[in-house]
Amino acid sequence: EVGRAIKAPGARIIDASGKIVAPGFIDMHTHLREPGREDAETIETGMAAAAAGGFTTVCAMPNTTPPCQTAGDAKYLIEKAQKAGKGHLIPIGTMTRDRAGEQITEMAELKEAGCLAVSDDGDSIAQAGVARKVMEYASMCDMLVISHCEDKSLSGKGVMHEGYWSTVLGLGPIPSLSEVSIVERDIALAELAGTRIHIAHVSCAESVEVVRRAKKRGVNVTCEVTPHHFSLTDKDLKTFDTNFKVNPPLRTDKDMEALRKGLQEGIVDVIATDHAPHPEHEKEKEFDHAPFGMIGLETALSLSVMNLIDKKYLEWPGLIERLTALPAGILGYNRGTLGEGAPADIVIIDPSEEWVYREEEVKSLSKNSPFLGKQMKARAICVIVDGRIIHERKGKS
Ligand code: DOR
Ligand code: ZN
Repeated sequence: EVGRAIKAPGARIIDASGKIVAPGFIDMHTHLREPGREDAETIETGMAAAAAGGFTTVCAMPNTTPPCQTAGDAKYLIEKAQKAGKGHLIPIGTMTRDRAGEQITEMAELKEAGCLAVSDDGDSIAQAGVARKVMEYASMCDMLVISHCEDKSLSGKGVMHEGYWSTVLGLGPIPSLSEVSIVERDIALAELAGTRIHIAHVSCAESVEVVRRAKKRGVNVTCEVTPHHFSLTDKDLKTFDTNFKVNPPLRTDKDMEALRKGLQEGIVDVIATDHAPHPEHEKEKEFDHAPFGMIGLETALSLSVMNLIDKKYLEWPGLIERLTALPAGILGYNRGTLGEGAPADIVIIDPSEEWVYREEEVKSLSKNSPFLGKQMKARAICVIVDGRIIHERKGKS
């Protein structure tokens, strides 16, 4: 129920005056590393990090070993998350076997087992002919395709955005075109097949323009941006801190501005973390050899408040929508709202809490964030899943 004088004898009353009560956040793009790399993250630690960040549902990307590509794999993940008791996990199945870009997976079975989308995230399907068949089959199964757009023949061994800073720093370049060309291709293929397509982590101004044009002509396309892409730029890599090494790479000021504007105008639908845990000994390698990715579940809300609300790109309702109802709508997921009778997945936010992101407090098993030690603003202080408190900041309620 939603109301002022709800009768619930014996229930605990939480005083949320001065706070924001919102539906629990839904992350469309989380890497949990289980199975296979439990030294980097497990379902339990990743979902604890999600809860601390205000997320009550995460979509688990399938670039694990083995990947999630059968009904059994998907059910295993859902059961593990249920046991962890820290929120809901939506498995994302691979679209091709072993993410190799060759053989299409049994999407109908994956759907039946609880996958709300398929993706080969981390890679694009290199062959357009295979990508076309994937789009056609997904369309038949009414399955959402989440596309990681990257032409590897253009990005090659690059490690950062191709531009002024890659030249100054002498680091291998990844041109924006490597992303944009596949955004164009996959939208065209989805349009042809009538597939629902969602573009993962758009990073540059040109991709936003391609999505804008496709939406205008009525293509069923949506897209997401990560907090790091709307908060940081390629200039940040001058520290050579490998925690800034992500794929797609951090781009220029102009790109960052286009992503923020894209969110403001609704061309970019969703904020998704691309939470990508990597252990310290791997991130401590030379820049060329360190893996791509940073953790993001625990800082997504603060970065959104500091860089989108405080800078006047969004207001609170718009931000919350992009973290809840919009991802739910895209996924066809029956949560993300606080209507009467809806599941009680709730986050209570202190919009003005100032805090420092300290390594000792990080819930994620990996600590690869460039925001450690940095000042943050706004925080999830109480997180409720199906009516049960799963995360609470001590001394705050
Ligand atoms: O930075 C990234 N990390 N981008 C990806 O596409 C994959 C991810 C990972 O799995 O580490
Ligand atoms: Zn990706």
